[in-house]
Amino acid sequence: MQVYLDNAATTRLDPRVLAKMKPYLTTKYANASSIHKPGQEAYLELLKAKKSVAKILNGEPENVIFTASATEANNFIIKGVARANKSGQKNKIIVSAIEHPCVRESARELESEGFQVEFIPATAEGLITPDALRGLIDDKTILVSVMMVNNEIGTVQDVTALARVAHEFGAYFHTDAVQAVPYLEIDIKRMELDFLSLSGHKFYGPKGVGVAYIDRRKKIRPLIVGGGQEDNYRSGTYNLPGIMGLAYALELAYKERKAYLKKVKSLRDHLLSAIQEEIPGIQINGSLIDRVPANLNVMFGYVEGEAILIDLSQKGVYVSTGSACSATNLKASHVLRAIGLNKNFLNSNIRFSLGRFNTRQEIDYTVKCLKDTVKRLRKFSPVKKIGQILN
Ligand SMILES: Cc1ncc(COP(=O)(O)O)c(C=O)c1O
Repeated sequence: MQVYLDNAATTRLDPRVLAKMKPYLTTKYANASSIHKPGQEAYLELLKAKKSVAKILNGEPENVIFTASATEANNFIIKGVARANKSGQKNKIIVSAIEHPCVRESARELESEGFQVEFIPATAEGLITPDALRGLIDDKTILVSVMMVNNEIGTVQDVTALARVAHEFGAYFHTDAVQAVPYLEIDIKRMELDFLSLSGHKFYGPKGVGVAYIDRRKKIRPLIVGGGQEDNYRSGTYNLPGIMGLAYALELAYKERKAYLKKVKSLRDHLLSAIQEEIPGIQINGSLIDRVPANLNVMFGYVEGEAILIDLSQKGVYVSTGSACSATNLKASHVLRAIGLNKNFLNSNIRFSLGRFNTRQEIDYTVKCLKDTVKRLRKFSPVKKIGQILN
């Protein structure tokens, strides 16, 4: 049996989305910037995709800018807003301590350009509170960026409350909503968001396409310059197959949301209770209440997460330690550090992220394998007595 429990890293392309994309790869291949008839037809399709994405987000179609990834969207928004709005008075950027590396590294790059960068601490539950933001923000602040849902521990932030604090101080608010689809209803207006990022491949859409939702009334400098596509906000030939795929995947995600959430939650709860019953010496990382139902991040005391991952992989169960983006980086997760996990346990964690195609049988098989793996690896653990580290 093969069990894919790494849906937060990427999802399988929905066959209906592939069918939607196919004509734009074969017959309708014209460049959407070309003046001829097929080019103009392609451009009209692009506008339809923007309209569809904007409707789901309760935003404006002209504010939907397509990028090649959420990494690009986050780089564009964070660097672009900071650079365009810097003045003698304003030079501060605030991001949370649990952001994805593409947000953190964008902020670090700005630091090297002379911006003041602050990181909002997280609670032990993995939450970013408005009070913690208040402790750092002032009228020198240009932008605050806090993710809607964390990719490692699945915690959900109250972005509306955070956006209000940012606005009180005249700062803009950006949220990385990559892991929020379709778990949360995203409403740009109601949530008072200025900027937002999405990634197609996290919700059964194609890889290589993302969204930077901007507010055209607010200054932002482009990251990628060239042919002037997207009204100069983002140059580069429109990736129409990817764009059509992303828009359709987003539509399906929200259309089928209710049944999807129910299924994923029931599988995750089953996984959680089976792990709790079958395996001693574990701890769940992050709030179980303010959390998306697809995520379970578990600390297995006295075993290396990497060892569990490799052993499970040999049994056909595919999970991750922390985020996939840091799979080649054996440094402990900055998210788990930020929530204050005991330092002895920083490398003992596994992220299970469930999705549309998982079944109850797969979860049962996973727990069976996990029980065997953890038991066996603990035999080799240098820590002989369970409880030795905890005390
Ligand atoms: C929260 C978050 N932001 C950004 C990204 C980057 O997305 P992309 O793969 O589209 O660059 C990811 C991907 O893991 C993510 O989980």
